[in-house]
Amino acid sequence: MNSLLSPYPKKYNMKQVKEYVNANKQRFIDELIELLSIPSVSADPAYKKDVARTAEWVKKSLLDAGVDKAEVIPTAFHPIVYGEKIIDKKLPTVMVYGHYDVQPPDPLDLWTSPPFKPVIKNGKIYARGACDDKGQMYMHVKAFELMMRNKMLPCNVKFLIEGEEEVGSESLGVFVKKNKAKLQSDVILISDTDIIANDIPSINVGLRGLSYVQVEVTGPNRDLHSGVYGGAVPNPINILCEMIASLKDKDGHITIPGFYKDVNKVSDKDRKELARAPFSLKEYKKDLGIDDVIGEKGYTTPERTSIRPTLDVNGIWGGYTGEGSKTVIASKAYAKISMRLVPNQSPDKTIALFTKHFTKIAPKSVKVKVIPFHGGDPLLLDTKFVGYAAAEKAMITSFGKKPIPVRGGGSIPIVALFKKELKTDSILFGFGLNSDNIHSPNESYGIFNYLKGIETISLFHQYYAEMRKKK
Ligand code: BES
Ligand code: MN
Ligand code: MN
Repeated sequence: MNSLLSPYPKKYNMKQVKEYVNANKQRFIDELIELLSIPSVSADPAYKKDVARTAEWVKKSLLDAGVDKAEVIPTAFHPIVYGEKIIDKKLPTVMVYGHYDVQPPDPLDLWTSPPFKPVIKNGKIYARGACDDKGQMYMHVKAFELMMRNKMLPCNVKFLIEGEEEVGSESLGVFVKKNKAKLQSDVILISDTDIIANDIPSINVGLRGLSYVQVEVTGPNRDLHSGVYGGAVPNPINILCEMIASLKDKDGHITIPGFYKDVNKVSDKDRKELARAPFSLKEYKKDLGIDDVIGEKGYTTPERTSIRPTLDVNGIWGGYTGEGSKTVIASKAYAKISMRLVPNQSPDKTIALFTKHFTKIAPKSVKVKVIPFHGGDPLLLDTKFVGYAAAEKAMITSFGKKPIPVRGGGSIPIVALFKKELKTDSILFGFGLNSDNIHSPNESYGIFNYLKGIETISLFHQYYAEMRKKK
């Protein structure tokens, strides 16, 4: 590239970056508020049009920020947004992945302000999706705008922003498999995770996998009077509760035969390393309003949410749940159950083990159906490549501290698929906080985190391009 003609100078200018963020801060916030006002709930088909509208909004924001081309790609369910800026084929390419869909906002009565009417309070933006993932995804669009406007973009950038992450990324999986050349890149950059605290930066180097099922237990062929029949016919709700209770023993171990068979043992050395991340059990309990924690014997609370698999009921229903009382024995009872997986467990295999066991433990008096939902592979990320070094250096520069590598408890199913299909490593460059209440009422995202993220992302691009050149 002829540097005299090139609009992209070689030197990154920190002062210029800070000035640009500061001068455009209000606009960055206003734009995010606009994005957060569209209810892009992917799980509920009633919001399909809003989801589509959000995709168009994201596409336009990419074009405004300076991509060469951007498109909204329809899928079997929700659209994917793709955009790219290729400045020089010889330069490395960073692919940004994020999601514009959000979790359902309910229970609505627990929000202090409406989920899709963003408000700013105590230095945070409150809205569904503020942190997960609209706020974090949009940091990349604004960091890109910053690099374009200040002629600082040091590499090619691709954007892959989907609308189905919160429901399992099925359509994106299909798209990735069919578009490997289009999605070719040197590193994938994702902000959809958290840091330990605003003065303790960290980088997620692992994600748990997921198996998700819905179970249905059927007793009598119709709802019955609980006095006329109670005591003699199988009550599917009682039975479902017993079955669920039996899935863990008194030490918090999951009782499904073979469940732990493929679990990679984490070495004592690695456990020690992971235990370096600061954690206060007292604060943890206080924050959640609980007097005690529970979990698998022999593991600490941070270990229980990162290196160990688990099983949780996410919802349970049946019978009468309306106002007052109704005396009834239901015909059916249901539950939604998630199992978080760790390397080297397989979601399909786990669902098969669950189904076999759950069917087996059902008493003869009821019938059981297990419906599998979406899943995702667990993963550990590579920390010994240029991408991680650049991410680490970017955080050192912007936070003044070396980020601590931690293993996250959540799942982002597409990340394992990126590695498998595209052979590309990802960096989980998240800036959220545990206190942001993702998936809960009153989700928020700190303005500090939003602006800090934009700055740190621009640093990542610079360091990554520099380090790649040296290699
Ligand atoms: N951003 C989260 C995942 C996350 C959050 C990872 C915090 C690590 C730390 C993502 O949007 C999410 O919620 N994923 C779902 C996966 C799913 C519905 C298939 C999850 O983990 O429940
Ligand atoms: Mn997310
Ligand atoms: Mn989420």
